[in-house]
Amino acid sequence: HVESYFKVGVIAGDGIGTEITESAIQVLQKLADVSGSFVWEFTHYDWSSDKYLERGWYMPEDGLEQLKRHDAIYFGAVGSPKVPDHISLWNLILPIRKTLTQYINLRPTRILPGTSSPLKSCQIGDLDWVFVRENSEGEYAGHGGITEVAPGNAIGTELAIFSQAACERVFRFAFDTARSRPRKKLTMVTKSNAQRYGMVLWDKIFWEIAKEYPDVETDKMLVDAMTVRMTLHPKSLDTIVATNLHADILTDLAAALSGSIGIAPSSNLDPTRRNPSMFEPIHGSAPDIAGKGVANPIGALWSAAEMLRWLGAGREADELVKSIETVTEAGVRTRDLGGVATTKEVTDTVCKELENIY
Ligand code: NAI
Ligand code: MG
Repeated sequence: HVESYFKVGVIAGDGIGTEITESAIQVLQKLADVSGSFVWEFTHYDWSSDKYLERGWYMPEDGLEQLKRHDAIYFGAVGSPKVPDHISLWNLILPIRKTLTQYINLRPTRILPGTSSPLKSCQIGDLDWVFVRENSEGEYAGHGGITEVAPGNAIGTELAIFSQAACERVFRFAFDTARSRPRKKLTMVTKSNAQRYGMVLWDKIFWEIAKEYPDVETDKMLVDAMTVRMTLHPKSLDTIVATNLHADILTDLAAALSGSIGIAPSSNLDPTRRNPSMFEPIHGSAPDIAGKGVANPIGALWSAAEMLRWLGAGREADELVKSIETVTEAGVRTRDLGGVATTKEVTDTVCKELENIY
């Protein structure tokens, strides 16, 4: 029997984005087949940097309208050495996040069974974090300009925006996330010592919202000191809320400390559910390994599991995460995790594991 019908827009993008998306679709299809709980309708969009070079656009004019018709969006990665990165980002992924008001970027990080942290004394369980990244404004608001005041004297500005409404909604989401986890602990990241307007407002609103959550333990870290704490005292952290830029940087560090950037998932959420949310690994198109078949698909598969969870298939999401963990524990790992397996071998092994579970 089939309980649900999920319509998903798929944008594989560039480089390893296409390889790991293929892996995610294979595993999601397998899960539908073996569980019998749902049916996928995937719509593939060939929006990528190569197509941009050919056609002059990343998304057609009604691209965002097309995406709105889906229950969710699955995204690989965008970025090519042949296109400046700000062009690819601002023509594809950032307009989707912003226009579909995906104002939360949720990024869990932990050490998977059978793998290890580059931190000497950090065991599985010692590093188990969830980053809540502000995903709609901040340093990525897109305000600024370049003026050539005089020949040879150009000035660039990059304006960070912190609005009360956006701060309140991201903090409430972060407190709810912290509250849902056993330790009920939330760390707020800031730079309000040097940045005395936007970041000061960010802090002030955080402490106001904190009053609504007396059961959640809170603390505050300056972003530079946060890198030290993540490295030296990973166990002291649980849920973390940070700005668009800060969390972008800190989650790459978090992924590396948990074993590899190749395992880290992310969910771009519109918690109001007025628009589809988008699921993607945190890594980019990795041109250095693209086309070699060695990209780690786990970040993509874990993101696919989070998509299932968001769509209401929590049990199947858990089964998928469990299968991924069984496979890493069994030693089927790509190079970035110290193994020798290819993308395809990891994917096929996860599929076999799903067959075993059902
Ligand atoms: P990257 O994440 O693509 O790669 C950084 C390093 O991690 C590389 O050495 C790469 O080989 C390795 N790596 C990444 N994912 C991996 C995986 N699944 N398995 C094994 N190794 C993996 O970041 P980079 O090099 O800074 O950016 C490359 C391109 O991707 C740029 O054009 C950038 O703008 C774009 N980008 C796109 C993102 C997105 O689509 N959301 C996010 C980050 C970068
Ligand atoms: Mg990033």
